[in-house]
Formats: sequence, C-alpha cells, structure tokens
Amino acid sequence: MNNTASLAARIDLATLCRMKAEQRKFAMLTAYDYPTAALAQAAGVHALLIGDSMGTVLLGHPSTRSVPLALMLTLGEAVRRGAPQVFLVGDMPYEAVAGGEQNAVTAAKRFRDEAGCDAVKFEAAPEDDRLVARLTQAGIDTIAHLGLRPQQVTSPDGYRAQARDAESVERLVADARRMVAAGAVMILLEAVPAEASQAVVAAVSVPVIGCGAGPACDGHVLVTQDLLGLGTIRPPRFVPVLAQMGRICEDALRRYVENIVKGTYPGPEHVYQMRAAPADKPS
Ligand code: KIV
Repeated sequence: MNNTASLAARIDLATLCRMKAEQRKFAMLTAYDYPTAALAQAAGVHALLIGDSMGTVLLGHPSTRSVPLALMLTLGEAVRRGAPQVFLVGDMPYEAVAGGEQNAVTAAKRFRDEAGCDAVKFEAAPEDDRLVARLTQAGIDTIAHLGLRPQQVTSPDGYRAQARDAESVERLVADARRMVAAGAVMILLEAVPAEASQAVVAAVSVPVIGCGAGPACDGHVLVTQDLLGLGTIRPPRFVPVLAQMGRICEDALRRYVENIVKGTYPGPEHVYQMRAAPADKPS
C-alpha cells in the first residue's frame, strides 16, 4: 500500500503492526467532528484520535480535565461516520479514568460500541498497568499514554517536556515494558526527547506513537488544529504548522462582515425569484 494514497481498505491493529514490522511509518491526527474526519481519511491519514484535547482546543477550557464523556462519544460517532476506514482511537477523559476501574471499563466499552472505536488510550500513571490489564481482560485494545500527561496539567503554562535525564528515561522504559506486559497494544509518548523514544522503541515490540517524541516512533500524532494553524493556542515547538487556516478563515469572515455593512451582500445571484404567476385561464 502507498503510505500517502487515500485509504482503500479498513486499517486495523494488524495493519499498523505490519507497517511497524515493514518499517513504514503511520500518520495519526486528532479529529472531533465529521468534516475533519472525512478530510483526514481522504488525505490518507491512517489513524484518528478523538482526543480529550478537545477540552482546550474546542471548548476553550484551561485544561483537558473537564471534558464530558458523553460529549466525546457523540463527537466520536460523528468522527467514525466521517472516516469509516481509519483506525479510530477513543481518548479516555479524566472523568472516565478517575471514577475507578469498573467505570473505566464501562467508558471504554462505550467508545467501542457507540463510537466504533478500535482502541482506547488513557494517560497512564506508573501503577496503571493494572487498569491496562483490566481493560485488556474486558476485550478492549488499550494504548498507554506516557511522558507528558496533560490531564495532570491544570494551567496552560504547565506543559513541559518529560524524561530529559538518564534516570527518567530508565523509568519511562520500565513503565512502557510494564504496560505492554499487562496487554497494551501500543504506547503513546508525548513530549519526550528523541533518545527517550528510541529507548522505548527498542524495549517494546508494539508500535510506539510519538506526539513530539522524535523520529524513532512508528507513527506520529498531532492536534489537527495546531497543524493547520486553526487553533487559538500557540502550538508546541514540535508542530510543523503546514497551513494558516486561521488567517484564511478570519479574512473570509471579515469580508463577509464588510459585504453586509456595505450592502453588497446579498446580491442578485443570492436571491430567490418569484415563480411566474399562472396564466389566466380563459372562461
Ligand atoms: O488529546 C489529545 O489530543 C492527545 C494527544 C496525544 C494529541 O492525547
């Protein structure tokens, strides 16, 4: 399969594992709605994440903590409708994980059954291999998110790169190994140096997804709004801003306002015409 061609077949876990084995990288993005998901699938994106980053990106909260599970499920269903072929991951919001293991299993099953997710991801503390095991036993493919864990950050300036010394890299590798031993089907590393992700990739057999984690990772994920220059928050340094959609949209909206204020909108081409009156019938 061509890595960048639009997708012909459904991508599943086996596809991503095969890509890793063949040293082909996969591309993942966040999606919170139908049109973004459809665009991403048409562009050949392999995997989408219904990220709890929607808390800051979409809902304007200062942190990701307060995203309701019910909203993520509703938007997740829309994402699946827009991108039926991609590998779809549901991001377990704080509410789902903080409520205990049974609560987390119930939420994960809802991501699978209601939003059609192939896997769930959650931000794993070192002792959360237990939860990975519990989800795995319940038949849920689980991705352990290590490194920077945004749900632990409560202010917009609290985002910091992790595992920047040898000891922390060792701990990260040990955590990744434990999560995989408990059944994690992938590891996601956020905001760690290239050396750290290289060590994790060398230590585990499952695909490793990087989010600002250097080139060794098997796949990479970014927040779509960051990539497209659509967000209101300055993107982290690891994001290549490939378009300035925010500026393009703002310019279009400004012209819309101007046209109304000047009276040039609506023009004749935007106006419905009356139907011709029926000809008078001869009596
Ligand atoms: O919620 C999110 O967007 C994430 C990142 C890894 C991109 O978890």
